[in-house]
Amino acid sequence: MIAVLGASGAVGSRVLAALRSRGFETRAGSRTSGVDLRDERSLAGFVDGARLVVNCAGPSHDTAERVMAVALRAGADHVDAGGDRTRSPSSRPRDVPGRTAVFSAGASPGLSGLLPRSLAPGFTEVATLVSYSGVLDRFTPAGAEDFLSGTTEAGAAWRDGERVSRAVSRVSGLTLPRLPRSVIALPFLDEENVSVALDLSLVDGTWFTFVEDGHLLGAIERVPGLPASAAVRSLCDAAALDMAGRDTHATLLVQLTGTMDGVEAIRTAIARAGSAAEMTAAVTVAAALAVLAGRCPEGVHQAAQVLDPAELSELDGVDIVIEDRPIEELALVEEGTL
Ligand SMILES: NC(=O)c1ccc[n+]([C@@H]2O[C@H](COP(=O)([O-])OP(=O)(O)OC[C@H]3O[C@@H](n4cnc5c(N)ncnc54)[C@H](OP(=O)(O)O)[C@@H]3O)[C@@H](O)[C@H]2O)c1
Repeated sequence: MIAVLGASGAVGSRVLAALRSRGFETRAGSRTSGVDLRDERSLAGFVDGARLVVNCAGPSHDTAERVMAVALRAGADHVDAGGDRTRSPSSRPRDVPGRTAVFSAGASPGLSGLLPRSLAPGFTEVATLVSYSGVLDRFTPAGAEDFLSGTTEAGAAWRDGERVSRAVSRVSGLTLPRLPRSVIALPFLDEENVSVALDLSLVDGTWFTFVEDGHLLGAIERVPGLPASAAVRSLCDAAALDMAGRDTHATLLVQLTGTMDGVEAIRTAIARAGSAAEMTAAVTVAAALAVLAGRCPEGVHQAAQVLDPAELSELDGVDIVIEDRPIEELALVEEGTL
């Protein structure tokens, strides 16, 4: 039996439906159905007898470690749509022998770390990476809280094989392939980016999150002056205003350059889903299936480091295209077509 916590949420409801449609026996829980993860007895009762616990309850920065500890103690494996194993090392429970836990099985972090790993095979040497990630979608309060609690460093990048602060400035009026309007790209570096840089032996890496020049950008800029609860409300309201009447999307773009058999080479991957929750749920389900099939090693891991990048094409509802052209050229070709 698979116990899905946060099963009434944007991500959890999709994960539950996907697991049920594959014939798995599931148990769904959230406060609405009488399960409160802050009550240890309630949580222990919910995970009792589960082979796998999938945590989609948020905000994950506050729930992930707690749910994992109870799941592993009950003898279940664990998959989390969010969470970040790189934070608060002192509060980490020890790995439990024989058990597997996979964190950050979402869009970003998650697919954002898998996509560059899927492009790397074939390169003799990877030199540079440029990545853009963004959504036009509603913010759930849980998602907004996790966004605000993220351990990202604005303006930092990977240069000459090292982390460098204040390396990149924001880019305005940027046209990217598959996006209906120009965007503003905000550079950042997080622990997932650093692990990609180290795994691929990058010389330079630059990661941006993009937003349209709208209400959400203004709300992000006002965050530093606001108390946490007001900042969450402001992000949720602003995102809802920006998407009113529009088609939602979640889009990731990654470009690698380097050499293939002594020849300069370039590859770009574009991943797209109808919403952030859809993209996240697809990765969470892939992680759950990998754990159930014994394809993830024992111990506690980030999804991008243990899922097989070769299986990306099987993510439900995520369209992935790979091109041997730079992002800039793909955007120009689309502009020409329009
Ligand atoms: N990595 C990524 O790219 C990514 C993207 C999107 C989301 N996420 C993460 O996925 C998680 C879910 O996001 P979402 O957008 O689906 O949020 P959501 O729609 O607000 O859903 C949250 C779920 O958690 C449940 N919940 C909240 N507090 C609970 C508690 N104390 N005990 C039990 N259940 C509780 C809620 O139900 P009740 O209110 O009934 O309890 C609801 O089912 C968040 O942590 C978010 O950060 C990750």
